[in-house]
Amino acid sequence: MTNFHSFRPGELWPDDHGVHINAHGGCLLRHGGKIYWYGEHKVEGRRGNLARVGVHVYVSDDYYNWRDAGIAFDVKNSGSTAVRPGCVIERPKVLFCPRTGKFVMYFHFERDSSYQDASIGIATADAPEGPFQLREITKINPGFWPENTPPELRDPARIAASAAKLNRISCGENPEAARGSILGACVPTGQDSRDMTLFVDDDGRAYLIYSSERNSTTHVAELTDDYLGRTGRFWRIFPFRWMEAPSLFKHNGKYYFIGSGCTGWAPNAARSAVADSLQGPWTELGNPAVDDGGELTYGAQSTWIEPLGGGRFLFMADIWRPDNAIDGRYLWLPVEFEGERPVLRAPREWSLESL
Ligand code: GAL
Repeated sequence: MTNFHSFRPGELWPDDHGVHINAHGGCLLRHGGKIYWYGEHKVEGRRGNLARVGVHVYVSDDYYNWRDAGIAFDVKNSGSTAVRPGCVIERPKVLFCPRTGKFVMYFHFERDSSYQDASIGIATADAPEGPFQLREITKINPGFWPENTPPELRDPARIAASAAKLNRISCGENPEAARGSILGACVPTGQDSRDMTLFVDDDGRAYLIYSSERNSTTHVAELTDDYLGRTGRFWRIFPFRWMEAPSLFKHNGKYYFIGSGCTGWAPNAARSAVADSLQGPWTELGNPAVDDGGELTYGAQSTWIEPLGGGRFLFMADIWRPDNAIDGRYLWLPVEFEGERPVLRAPREWSLESL
């Protein structure tokens, strides 16, 4: 049994068997007095960047000490042949839906390493530890336009130009995206969704926040009451700002966003923003990682922000090790505030009790 009383960002983090925790790109869920940590199970080497096993879950009472509760979503037993070893399952996020009593998992899904599907997978379970079974793999809101679509993105010539070369437009920062209308080209089939997160507002309404339009623009899509469907209402935020790894929290009635730039597994400078409403307008607040090393977010990329109560928030990020994926590390830091601005100070050993 482990007995930790602090977080040690970036170090190996043993579970109750003494094995480094294997839950990357993940999230937390508090339920029934326990804390659940879900994340991508990685294996050794570069092949570990693809989903060979599934989504791992750990359970804790205190955020420091984690019991291995096994594979919550198993690629070999997912309830669907679409999901199989060697596909891509990234950034799993899990909510409990009070209306249905189901645990609902969303994740970024790709059939293979070409990353051309840009779909979400949705799986459900009756218990937090799983087993989760696949319900759907889908694109977002086919046939619908975002409520705040600017008129130029409805221009048929721009849509046709993007439609003609959609899969050839890079998913890394490039000027091409803003010249056409990737958005319009994707309306018939549904929008792309790559890096993503879920957020539940105070009224119980849940939202999917995802990198879309070849990663150029973030979208916010409203979910149905059972959290399984999209209502068709969605909004573009941060147009052509090339953000990934979205994470959200609400503090003093305002919505806060922390994400990353768009450089694959390599770390970059984080982004932050604030808004009075999820739909925006969002005001960017710059890189929240303000200390030395912050220009690369201390080597990490955001994945989740857990509200701890009393105005305290736990920022969770991944230090990816793409050459040996299983060795990826975790950078958990307190979110501090300078006025309205969230800041992430240089990593050091710390505990919740010190906040
Ligand atoms: C990152 C992204 C990860 C993964 C990776 C693949 O930018 O945040 O979730 O998709 O790219 O290169």
